[in-house]
Amino acid sequence: MINILIVGSGGREHAMAWKIKQSPKLNQLFIAPGNAGTSLLGTNIPVGVSDFEGLRKAALDNQIDLILVGPEVPLCEGLHDYFLADGSLQHIKIVGPQKLGAQLEGSKDFAKEFMVRHQIPTAKYSSVTNETLSDGLAFLKTMTAPYVLKADGLAAGKGVLIIDELAEAEESLKEMLDGQFGAASQKVVVEEFLSGIECSVFAITDGNDYKILPVAKDYKRIGEGDSGLNTGGMGAISPVSFADEIFMNKVETLIIRPTVEGLKKDQIPYNGFLFFGLISVKGEPMVIEYNVRLGDPETEAVMLRIKSDFVDLLIGAADGTLAEKTIEIDDRTAAAVMLVSGGYPGPYEKGKIISGLENVENSFAFHAGTNYRNGEICTDGGRVIAISSYGNSMVEALSLSYKNAQLINFEGKYFRKDLGFDL
Ligand code: AMP
Ligand code: GLY
Repeated sequence: MINILIVGSGGREHAMAWKIKQSPKLNQLFIAPGNAGTSLLGTNIPVGVSDFEGLRKAALDNQIDLILVGPEVPLCEGLHDYFLADGSLQHIKIVGPQKLGAQLEGSKDFAKEFMVRHQIPTAKYSSVTNETLSDGLAFLKTMTAPYVLKADGLAAGKGVLIIDELAEAEESLKEMLDGQFGAASQKVVVEEFLSGIECSVFAITDGNDYKILPVAKDYKRIGEGDSGLNTGGMGAISPVSFADEIFMNKVETLIIRPTVEGLKKDQIPYNGFLFFGLISVKGEPMVIEYNVRLGDPETEAVMLRIKSDFVDLLIGAADGTLAEKTIEIDDRTAAAVMLVSGGYPGPYEKGKIISGLENVENSFAFHAGTNYRNGEICTDGGRVIAISSYGNSMVEALSLSYKNAQLINFEGKYFRKDLGFDL
């Protein structure tokens, strides 16, 4: 029996807490900082994800055996390295890569070099800095529209620009290099545009072996028919019809295995999750991006489909014993519908009272941005609650989530009603 601390506060962390809570291997569960939903499953600790000293103290005070890191920021900032460097923390296992491996997400240039080095299919690119601007502009001219510009560093999901006109792309490249996204865009990856349909593939690895988790599709745009601004994700569906066995075999052979082998060859220690943001270009998978954590809201669908003990998989990843573990997947479909605050992803108000949670039936309400105010559960972020359901088909899972989405209310509530339209 072990004590687990989950770092993070979103729907992903609530869904992981829900799954972990079912494990016979769990003793006590803590979440830092967590949200109103996670407080129903474990003990929330009011410590932020980047507060390493606070996390250190929380881990020692609560005899934590394993820390599961939800978001990328603390991994890219070196939370795992911090624990490794401290003698009093060495008995605590961390699931999530060290800073070096986290560069797969923290630096687009690092990820692209890695993919090229290990012959992993991805878009053609050139990395540009102010010093190499003229080469960058020349590379842009060799591309055809639309033009893809990516800030090298973490930019909270906002660092990718897709531009139709060459002149505008040239201007944007200069603006990015001049600090449009701060330090994150001191280097810019200029990339070939790929057209196809996207999906999210996840693996858990101990650096040697890996297990593939259920594949999911995320809906990133705020508006129906994939229109309007990008969000953190408006919903997710798993499995994904086009990601069939043939496609997934290609993904494993051409992408997942070479990635794990590549990390080994490059002597990059890595344990935790690998998230492959893929695009199917006429049935051929290509990597759009790596992330070093699970997706949100994909996790709110994926957790429903993992039948095996999730804690056992986490222990396997932490201990280097993943080869001994098995992963069993539920055949049913899972669908997560995200309820968001009015105005999101632009400015929105917080603190709206959420009612009707007790009416949810045959679905799970995973909290994202929620908190207690004066004893009531209130909105506390743009993405508020993910409603996740099982179904024997995508339509069945979605209709159950939609039915329950109607039963929850808060001022300004919005959700997309067309998830799965493209599948
Ligand atoms: P990223 O932050 O790398 O996931 O990029 C955000 C979104 O931009 C992706 O989910 C894709 O929809 C789109 N995108 C990124 N790179 C490309 C590309 N090379 N071709 C087409 N679309 C892309
Ligand atoms: N849903 C996409 C992400 O977590 O980055």
